[in-house]
Amino acid sequence: MLLFAIETSCDETSAAVVQDGCVRSNLIASQVKLHAEYGGVVPELATREHLRNLLPVAQEAFRAANVDASQLDAVAVTQGPGLPNALMIGFRAAQGMAFSLRRPLIGINHHEAHLYSAWVSGNPPQADFAAFEPSVSLIVSGGHTLLVLVRAELDHRLLGSTLDDAAGECFDKVAKLVGLPYPGGPEIDRLAEHGNPAAFAFPRPMLREANDDFSFSGLKTSVRYFLRDHPDVQASSQGVCDLCASVQAAIVDILVRKTIQAAKREGVLIVTASGGVACNRVLRHDLALACDRAGLRLRLADKPFCTDNAGMVGILAERKLRHGQPRLVVPDDIVPNLALK
Ligand code: KG4
Ligand code: ZN
Repeated sequence: MLLFAIETSCDETSAAVVQDGCVRSNLIASQVKLHAEYGGVVPELATREHLRNLLPVAQEAFRAANVDASQLDAVAVTQGPGLPNALMIGFRAAQGMAFSLRRPLIGINHHEAHLYSAWVSGNPPQADFAAFEPSVSLIVSGGHTLLVLVRAELDHRLLGSTLDDAAGECFDKVAKLVGLPYPGGPEIDRLAEHGNPAAFAFPRPMLREANDDFSFSGLKTSVRYFLRDHPDVQASSQGVCDLCASVQAAIVDILVRKTIQAAKREGVLIVTASGGVACNRVLRHDLALACDRAGLRLRLADKPFCTDNAGMVGILAERKLRHGQPRLVVPDDIVPNLALK
């Protein structure tokens, strides 16, 4: 089965060719540098960039996979959630393609695509659904922090999510307070390598709650007050590294402990993690350690599949087709769907 996939939900324009669980090409035009100037994603600029980049990215995805559009069995596209106008660019392109080729169009939930990206690995990237087992899955990105129980393939239930800021948003906002460039997550990760994670104690909200929800806005606020009261820390490069390491330790501690707690309670043997924040060095290390101690197996999305990409969209769409549940999209269905179904 041969699919073409498009992802334009935020600030990456991506197109991929997927065949029988293998990602044959996965092109990404990142807009990070453009938005860095403004300290965050500017929706109008993102939309214009998608318009500019989608066609060349799509052409390159076909060329790299050595595939012609006429060979496709289906077209897949991220349907939501995301920036509405950014989504619209990818959606309308996919719709036009599917219409002219007379092939099915499969709308994909962005979170669900992140969820299953943890099952893709290797070079070329290949989905390993033969190894599939029920899991508790952490999806951590700039927009979302979700814990999901995956009972069977394509059968999942949302356990908890953030009540305010997402984990990636917390990384980005703290970085902004410290004066680091956008996106802040990779910057904090890099500087934290030279810092002491025990230098400063930051709160770990919601850790004692008996639910699977998260809250990160209090942590961000406590960093704001800390910086106001300790200007010396921000003035020294070692101080900034220690601060980054301490904030990162708090975020990772919350993510790891809540994920393990949910996995134990639900009685699964597998934990997965995906989304942009799953690139974080300490999160990857600490989650692996905690899973090991708890007798759980961990599937971490490969780093190129953590951040937004069309490969994961194509992999999930193919899986849906194989399970006989294509989500064929009608035009009115574009309204971004905020629920993880
Ligand atoms: O999944 P993603 O590419 O886009 C969304 O759907 O949001 O995630 C982007 C987020 C940003 O907040 C970015 O700062 C964060 O992932 N991120 C990281 C790292 N790499 C990316 N956060 C912490 N450590 C990293 N190494
Ligand atoms: Zn994402």
